[in-house]
Amino acid sequence: MTTAVANAAQAALARGLEGIVAGETSICSVEQGKLIYRGYEIHDLAEHASFEETAFLLLVGHKPSPSELSRWTSELVAERALPAAVVEFLRSVVPSLKAGTAVPMDVLRTAVSILGHLDPDCQDNSAQANLRKSRRLLARTPTIIGHMQNLIDGRPIVGQDKGGDPMLGHAANLLYMMTGTKPGPEYARVLDISLTLYAEHDLNASTFTTRVIAATLSDMHGAVCGGIAALKGSLHGGANEMAMEMLKEIMRDVGETGIGSPAVDDWMQRAFDTKRKLMGFGHRVYKNGDHRAPILHKLGRSLAEKDTKNPGGHAATAWFRLGEHVQKIMLEKKKIHPNVDFPCGLTYFTMGIPVPQYTPIFVAARMSGWCSHIMEQHANNRLIRPLSIYSGPPEQKWNG
Ligand SMILES: CC(C)(COP(=O)(O)OP(=O)(O)OC[C@H]1O[C@@H](n2cnc3c(N)ncnc32)[C@H](O)[C@@H]1OP(=O)(O)O)[C@@H](O)C(=O)NCCC(=O)NCCS
Repeated sequence: MTTAVANAAQAALARGLEGIVAGETSICSVEQGKLIYRGYEIHDLAEHASFEETAFLLLVGHKPSPSELSRWTSELVAERALPAAVVEFLRSVVPSLKAGTAVPMDVLRTAVSILGHLDPDCQDNSAQANLRKSRRLLARTPTIIGHMQNLIDGRPIVGQDKGGDPMLGHAANLLYMMTGTKPGPEYARVLDISLTLYAEHDLNASTFTTRVIAATLSDMHGAVCGGIAALKGSLHGGANEMAMEMLKEIMRDVGETGIGSPAVDDWMQRAFDTKRKLMGFGHRVYKNGDHRAPILHKLGRSLAEKDTKNPGGHAATAWFRLGEHVQKIMLEKKKIHPNVDFPCGLTYFTMGIPVPQYTPIFVAARMSGWCSHIMEQHANNRLIRPLSIYSGPPEQKWNG
């Protein structure tokens, strides 16, 4: 590179690709004030559409008619059960899950990879095969999560032959498979809405990963495994688990009586002084707030207010009060808003979902977005291959 070219490249370098337009999509638009899935705004979808409808919208490209929805829903139900080899793998990995050398996100990634080996369409990247694979992945991800949790808890696998209960919708069935108890309508609806909020978000890190992989003309299962690996990280989807772990840490330190007191301010000040990143806060695009967050916060808080459970040994509302205090301090001191992962952590905790399954549940939702993007990439492909600026040693002779 000449000096002039190197200087121009240095000037154009955007760390973390911030602000760089890296593609075009008809699936989703992410702006500061709006999140749109194929023309429909997220508040509208959260209020009126089920997750199954949202997934159809993303994957097929339009709002389903009543007959399309009925066919789509029964196709999803029919695809829920897992092949025996995947169940066998899940059983085999329980000791690693218990030892902590594997976490549910890793296990889910491998299980999805095995699904690929067994999928008759695995090596076929045509639009029709990709849609069939998307449907199977969407249907089976909750079954993997449910079976895995049963095995961790040491209970018999719930609904192994059919992948749960065919009479239950996607979200209700996920909760049923994880616990063996059929959830009430409010729990099912709140989980369903959280799946819709998590379903899609244009070129976030994991979706970008799936598109980079798909753009080499690699297969959908491979691309999705890459997406799961990317989503696991705490700066991305893993933040919903880490946000709750952080709240537990604060609660341990200040106690329920400390909520609203200067003890929380002191805890936060220590975090700021040590430059600790507070999980569930901040966003690359939404610098003035993530509009998915208040939707989920309101729903989660309302569940907590009606709940008699004592998650983590404290009243469900205590966790929300603590979360709200932390949010207030973050905004006052740092001008940083919560992202959707913050209320997600609180809401799933209130629902009694084990923390290490929060990000796998995010996968169950984002699968719809990833597969839509993989299909869009395959339909109009060009290899994704950016440049970098070399900052290594100058050229030298090996035998010099
Ligand atoms: C999401 C995230 C990775 C975006 O990162 P980004 O666009 O690269 O933003 P930066 O990390 O450059 O942040 C800009 C400034 O805000 C601070 N900041 C951003 N998020 C912060 C957080 N969660 N806690 C504390 N400080 C934060 C940074 O330290 C930085 O401060 P500085 O300029 O004094 O160094 C970042 O906000 C983060 O790490 N959040 C926590 C993880 C999380 O919740 N992820 C889920 C995202 S949906």
